[in-house]
Amino acid sequence: MAARRYAAVVGWGKYVPQRVMTNDELATMVDTSDEWIRQRTGILERRIADLKEFTSTMAIRAARAALRVAALDPDRLDLIIVCTVTGDYPFPATASLVQDALGASHAGAFDLAAGCSGFIYGLSLASQMIAAGAYDNILVIGAETLSRIIDWSDRQTCVLFGDGAGAFVLQASDQPGGVISFTLGSDGSGADLLIMPGGGSRHPFNETTLANGMTKIRMNGREVFRFATRIMGRAAKEVIDRAGLDIDHVELFVPHQANLRIISTAAKFLGLPMDRVYVNLDRYGNTSAASVPIAVCEAVEEGRIKPGDHIVLVAFGAGLSWAAALIQWAVPPERRWPWWRRLLQWLRYRYARVKSFRQRVVRKLGSLWNRLLGRNGNMGNGAVRGQSGGGDTGWQT
Ligand code: ACO
Repeated sequence: MAARRYAAVVGWGKYVPQRVMTNDELATMVDTSDEWIRQRTGILERRIADLKEFTSTMAIRAARAALRVAALDPDRLDLIIVCTVTGDYPFPATASLVQDALGASHAGAFDLAAGCSGFIYGLSLASQMIAAGAYDNILVIGAETLSRIIDWSDRQTCVLFGDGAGAFVLQASDQPGGVISFTLGSDGSGADLLIMPGGGSRHPFNETTLANGMTKIRMNGREVFRFATRIMGRAAKEVIDRAGLDIDHVELFVPHQANLRIISTAAKFLGLPMDRVYVNLDRYGNTSAASVPIAVCEAVEEGRIKPGDHIVLVAFGAGLSWAAALIQWAVPPERRWPWWRRLLQWLRYRYARVKSFRQRVVRKLGSLWNRLLGRNGNMGNGAVRGQSGGGDTGWQT
């Protein structure tokens, strides 16, 4: 009988933009106050991407940090999943941009959209692909640039969100640990409670959708709050039960960082004291799919997660969706690259950029050559099929 495979978290990394936006700054933009935001949400400030930062660039930085911790060459990655609702483009997938920038030449890549629950959905999927023996190394990233879809005149939503990215490297292991149990859920009857109505096939981008603010986040805060307080504790309990453990075995609870009152309610439901609950929303606000991996990274940095610890991750969000996972942290922290290895990797990233540029040039020249020879890519008239030459998306890291 084949030995059981486990999906261990062997790398983690995060990136948040430099720019800090405080509650006081928001109070100069909409009718709100630092006191209201602190009391109702627990948020003190959030990070906002600058004009040269996108979901892909933040995802790439978090991914590089995670690969460094994992001491893993990007070309050993089998799959890259970017969990996001704010990808660089409707298509192609932001994961493909990340794959190119990392030089992860053997990796498949796709985006996963499940709102704030997205990262735990991605983590669960990746862990099962590893357990099934399909893949050995998977990069799961949660990355969001919510500041681009916030209605900055809507005080009910603009005070809540921020930008950032977090990443995990999952690796096959024969040592028990890693992702032990998970649960995923959805209640689409609440789809309209948290939504960006414009920009999809139902209401495509046009002057009307733009003028009506349909390309911005719309939320029924009270209903989402009610749903979240109901679901978070229950989902966490489900993964603890599925793992055959009880709450006393859980060293740290890392919830989606949306609202301190929602987190406290979930902790109370579980009978967990707040010193076993990780909270960093005061500094970042709600970064949607990036919130859980960023929180885990900071908890590790602060020494609050140690090898062998059981941690419960839980999130809720648009969909309505929810997800939870129980992880046993299995990696010794001293697993690090020496300086020369880091230098080599830096050079490889530079090379990946050059290689990507070369491919674009070759594609353009190929297309030009075909045109000069009077060929075109139209399959209908039997012409020779050349490379498309339309691949230059103009993005930069
Ligand atoms: N500043 C000052 N007053 C405000 C603000 C603000 N920023 N926002 C709302 N108010 C006012 C309201 O207008 C209302 O005034 P009224 O009583 O005169 O009508 C009053 O404050 C109370 O409003 P409520 O909506 O009842 O406030 P509540 O205590 O519910 O807090 C909040 C609102 C923070 C939005 C809360 O409902 C919440 O956190 N909901 C969950 C939101 C969430 O987590 N969303 C993310 C989901 S994850 C994802 O997928 C992206």
